[in-house]
Amino acid sequence: MIIESIGASLLLLSAIRTTNMSDKKKIEKIFEYTKTWITTQGNEIKKPQFIRKEAITNENEESIGMLYVYRLPLGLPYKKLEYLNDNIGVFKDGLHKNVEIEFDGGMLHVNVYETDLPRKWNYEDEELEGWKVPIGKTYKELITHDFDATPHMVGGGTTRYGKTNLMKVMITSLIANHPEDVELFLIDLKAGVEFDRYKNLKQVKAVAKNVYETHQLLTEVMMILEGEKAFYRENGWSNIVESPLKKRRFVIIDEAGDLVPEKFMSKQEKDMHAECQWMLSHIARIGGAFGFRELFFSQYTTADVLPRQIKQNCDAKISFKLQNGYSSEVVLGEGNTQAAELEKIPGRAIFKDGASMYKLQVPKITDNQMEKLLQDYYESKRKDVTNEVGRKKNEDTDNLIEFRDHD
Ligand SMILES: Nc1ncnc2c1ncn2[C@@H]1O[C@H](COP(=O)(O)OP(=O)(O)O)[C@@H](O)[C@H]1O
Ligand SMILES: [Mg+2]
Repeated sequence: MIIESIGASLLLLSAIRTTNMSDKKKIEKIFEYTKTWITTQGNEIKKPQFIRKEAITNENEESIGMLYVYRLPLGLPYKKLEYLNDNIGVFKDGLHKNVEIEFDGGMLHVNVYETDLPRKWNYEDEELEGWKVPIGKTYKELITHDFDATPHMVGGGTTRYGKTNLMKVMITSLIANHPEDVELFLIDLKAGVEFDRYKNLKQVKAVAKNVYETHQLLTEVMMILEGEKAFYRENGWSNIVESPLKKRRFVIIDEAGDLVPEKFMSKQEKDMHAECQWMLSHIARIGGAFGFRELFFSQYTTADVLPRQIKQNCDAKISFKLQNGYSSEVVLGEGNTQAAELEKIPGRAIFKDGASMYKLQVPKITDNQMEKLLQDYYESKRKDVTNEVGRKKNEDTDNLIEFRDHD
């Protein structure tokens, strides 16, 4: 029903585009066209009530737009608000400006920006508190993500729109801010073309370049996880954030779509793929409490690529440009088709952390910059993760975990 009303209103909308109505008037017309109101039993129409407007400023205190605050009529179905958000393009069309809306208690905030998002900005080396990493700039500010607040992240987006770049940004920021405490397990199913070069970083415990190595790497991580569970039990901790432990272990996987078992594969290969997916699900489900964080990125965003368990346990979601609303919903959640409407600009993304959703521009990092920032941490010696394994060393596990370097 709401859909019909918007469809029918598109013609009316074209009318407000051409008039020189104020932005406030236009917003209120859009409320009318989209029937963002309630009808009481006595057939009285209750519309959002204008409360105030104020200038929006950025981090440098420059004015970048205007915020319009409305009180929503009591009983307005949440679905109508979600629909408004999903069709934010209606505002952009009507006002010829970038618009974002937020709901705050019974209030509707309509942010009207005079500016655009940056088309590109370079990664800036900065100290961030706790386990935060930079994700991107919105119209207003830099958005960071805190991996202690939300342990796992899932990412999607058409190829060449910036997934791997964001992973590099996060890897750099994590290492630069926590050189002694972070351990990285990198899975690069593009045959290692992206991550293999980081294998000599002190903080990188292993790089897997194909499904076999991935299986081995994940088996390794599972063993460490088991060791940690026992250690936590002994100390009476139920979650790393309550413990004095500083170490965080990140399993970062690029092009996870290649772990889907396919029909043409042998039984053994299928099992290998399925087990990798299962282990990733397990780490996402159990690992958070024990200091494991999973970053699961894939260009293919269908239900078989993104196992339900992973999706349910990754509360941070990011999507670069996607072809259609359906793919966007797979990454960002039901009703969130916004990634399909993103401009065709690499680095543009929709980032969702719990209930907050942002459109932003991810910083660009170059390989040179990364190498420079991390230059102190390159080691030439071979890696043997066995030395690092679980706190609780017993000989059985040590023998089981034989980690090979695949060069
Ligand atoms: N945040 C960004 N800002 C500007 N350009 C970017 C950004 N991210 C990626 N790009 C450009 O797009 C190209 C592809 O990015 P990449 O991260 O490899 O995409 P994907 O992994 O999704 O295929 C990069 O080589 C770079 O030129
Ligand atoms: Mg990539």
